[in-house]
Amino acid sequence: MSRLKGRRIALGVTGSISAYKAAEVVRGLVQENADVRVVMTREAGAFVGAVTFSALTAHPVAIEQFPEAGASGEEHIDLAVWADAVAIVPATANIIGKMANGLGDDLLSTVMLACEAPCCLAPAMNFRMWRNEAVQANLERLRSRGVHVIEPEFGMLANGEMGEGRLAAPDRIVEAIAILADPDPDLAGCNVLVSAGPTEEDIDPVRCVTNRSSGKMGFAVARAAARRGASVTLVSGPTSLQDPYGVTVEHVRSADEMHEAVLRNREGQDAVIMAAAVADYRPGVQGRRKMKKSDERLTLEMTRTADILKEVAADRPPVLVGFAAETHDGLDFARGKRAEKDLDLVVYNDITMEGAGFGTDTNIVTLIHRDGREETLPKQAKSGVADRIMDEVAALLRNREGVPA
Ligand code: CTP
Repeated sequence: MSRLKGRRIALGVTGSISAYKAAEVVRGLVQENADVRVVMTREAGAFVGAVTFSALTAHPVAIEQFPEAGASGEEHIDLAVWADAVAIVPATANIIGKMANGLGDDLLSTVMLACEAPCCLAPAMNFRMWRNEAVQANLERLRSRGVHVIEPEFGMLANGEMGEGRLAAPDRIVEAIAILADPDPDLAGCNVLVSAGPTEEDIDPVRCVTNRSSGKMGFAVARAAARRGASVTLVSGPTSLQDPYGVTVEHVRSADEMHEAVLRNREGQDAVIMAAAVADYRPGVQGRRKMKKSDERLTLEMTRTADILKEVAADRPPVLVGFAAETHDGLDFARGKRAEKDLDLVVYNDITMEGAGFGTDTNIVTLIHRDGREETLPKQAKSGVADRIMDEVAALLRNREGVPA
């Protein structure tokens, strides 16, 4: 279950051409069962209709500070007190300026004056406005007051020009809001290292040996840790996934590169979670030139790669979690892996099951604990599985003394 469930999010929408993307942000939050209320400026109404937001949130949209009838005139206070977190998506230079200087001349800016909840902004504007000294000074002022700024991206702007100032992608904004709104950031101050994805072992410059890992499970784990306030480093093999918001990502290709990156980042980690599907063997010789076909049969000689998890286990962090993806006799193999490497937790999945394993958005896993407990979780989204894994990691870190050094 998403940790956004039941969280009360006030979402401000201001007048930018990217205002329509706020609808996608709202949908992302609602899909995770957050309770969202939208406050629009009048200018936002020129770009997107209030009905869109009221339909998505099942709440009326607030626009006017002094509505004609049927309202108390205290909406700005009511909303500010109601919200667990506030986000302005998109945020124009105008609302940024008003917030930085304590001005309130419409409903949204007065809500922001009254708001004591954590707040984030996703700016969107032409690159000339974005680099304007006054805008940057206003943003700096807001950052120093603890407002989180979701940096805009470089890309094509409203007038077709390329530059910095494009609204961040909606799913990244949802992620940033989720981090801000977490009711219990129980991994705040913790460092978490996650490995994810497949590896690619070159045969020659155009061919490689790899596996079908999509990286989705490891990325979900990294995201879940970041949502709980951890400082997360993700070492990932090649995937088609976007880097998760708020996570430091190191991209690698081969098992050797993953080995080097994991060991280099190991120092100071409170928890290491190895979700990568690392090649156990790589071609003994990697040709510098493309191999030409000749005989009917071809034998590739393979040599062992380093067992990264085993090496991390030899100098173990406070919490160490491994994965076991198996096709047969899996539970026994998984129990064996847990014991052999003295892991706190093994996340076992039978990749032959429908809705489990590589490439899917769901997984069916059994958690095998150090104390012998075994829990099979119902089939669910990988984000849900990741959250359960982080529940265990957080609990283990709380009882750190109980974990062998
Ligand atoms: N792993 C690793 N380095 C490797 C191989 C695996 O760190 N060279 C990690 C994986 O990230 C996973 C765990 O070890 O957390 C189990 O991986 P898996 O491939 O299922 O098992 P192996 O240890 O390789 O064992 P086997 O091939 O015998 O199943």
